[in-house]
Amino acid sequence: MRAMTLENARAYEAELKASADAERPAFHLTPAIGWMNDPNGFSMYKGEYHLFYQYYPYDISWGPMHWGHAKTKDFVTWEYLPCALAPDTPADDRGVFSGTALELEDGRQLLVYTGVYGRENMPADLHGYQHQCAAIGDGINYEKMSVNPIIGADKLPEGISDIDFRDPKVFKSGDYYYVLAVARVEDGTGSAVLFSSTDLENWVFESRIISCEGRYGTMWECPDFFPLAGTECLTFCAHETLPEGLEFHAGYGNFFFIGRYDIESKTFVKDHVQAVDYGCDFYAQQTLEAADGRRIMVAWMQNWNDVHVKGADTKTFGSMTLPRELSIKNNRLYQWPVREIENYRSNHVAYKDVKVSEEMSLEGIEGRTIDLNVSIRPEEDGSFRRFSLKLAKTDGQYAEIVFVPEDNIVKFDRTYGVSRYDYVTTRKFYVEDKGGALDLRILVDKNGIEIFANGGAQACTSKIYTPVDAGDITFMARGNCVIDVEKYDLCK
Ligand code: FRU
Repeated sequence: MRAMTLENARAYEAELKASADAERPAFHLTPAIGWMNDPNGFSMYKGEYHLFYQYYPYDISWGPMHWGHAKTKDFVTWEYLPCALAPDTPADDRGVFSGTALELEDGRQLLVYTGVYGRENMPADLHGYQHQCAAIGDGINYEKMSVNPIIGADKLPEGISDIDFRDPKVFKSGDYYYVLAVARVEDGTGSAVLFSSTDLENWVFESRIISCEGRYGTMWECPDFFPLAGTECLTFCAHETLPEGLEFHAGYGNFFFIGRYDIESKTFVKDHVQAVDYGCDFYAQQTLEAADGRRIMVAWMQNWNDVHVKGADTKTFGSMTLPRELSIKNNRLYQWPVREIENYRSNHVAYKDVKVSEEMSLEGIEGRTIDLNVSIRPEEDGSFRRFSLKLAKTDGQYAEIVFVPEDNIVKFDRTYGVSRYDYVTTRKFYVEDKGGALDLRILVDKNGIEIFANGGAQACTSKIYTPVDAGDITFMARGNCVIDVEKYDLCK
């Protein structure tokens, strides 16, 4: 059996380089080889943006977790760096799980992650126990701290289990370092727990800043906590979410709380609750503050429920979303593709005031690696009832976006993709009532689609499974509507 060492992982990467993969997206980060899940350590270091990720180099399925590593100057073109962490110490021999990173004042880079480890006589069905560990390095090589774990089970108050205690978010405020992790509490559901330290070695438990209260799923994962537009935001993912209207769907959910941290009670007070993304595939989001002050979010473009849906020729598995700029308007999160993607646009094709009823295509509006803007408005005859846009289309296979103006509902539908698996294929979300008008920006990149409605008030991200060269686009309406369409190819 191969030893899960860093040397082995790096040698394997060097041997394989990047797998030739026709499905590999052009501008979404994928692993050079193997499997990728959550973004980790998304942060600025020495003026560049680093993104680590949950990584198993040896297969296209989840395995003993490593940290893969890449960096970018513009969030679009990535440079792969050697594997950063492997599960190779007693504190993390069952996996180097998710975490975050921070540039230290002395110029080194701190990685804080969950070490999963085994104990003698532990239950056979248990993957391991979890605690928080750290490694420090120079942007390529990292040394795990000799005191690992830095935050062990002994730091947890009564009632909080170290079987589910993970995904530390590290940040600094004043003289203190903080770690916010998620943990399963007495009622079996999730909470976020805060620790502080002045020296990175000695940590004290501060408080349970917020708990699930039987809502927002069961066990939580991957918390992030940051200021935005005069508010404080807490975002995380959850298992076993219960559906709530069209806001939350069942299963692996993503959540965004706008509120504030109350220093007295050491708790997070939430004022507004919403989903981050309404699509089929969006999980484990993380943010950073860019050099120019923008808050940028990236997520794993996947859902644990559909990781088994793989094409026959898949050579690597998993990708990130395109990083997004976040803002808050009218107490809602807005998301917009990083502006740097606009530098990769070419072949502009535009149409104005096109009347749509029967299914139609427009010369030059096509492609599978595109930035597409569609503005829809009703015809004055009052007949407009339904709009449909099909893309990634070929002979009976397509992904579809449907807008029902009467209900202010947008539906994403990938039912007629190529997959033979039975999996979630549709998601719906509400948009603002604009009298039957809707603006869509749609980024398509081979096997993924990101939809931004009405300037980013809603985002909807999903994998798509039609053949990767299927790029036809059609428009259709029940009743009459008018559209403006603009398409760019995106290339590097
Ligand atoms: C979320 C997650 C994390 C964990 C990691 C393991 O997708 O389950 O909670 O750290 O993946 O790969």
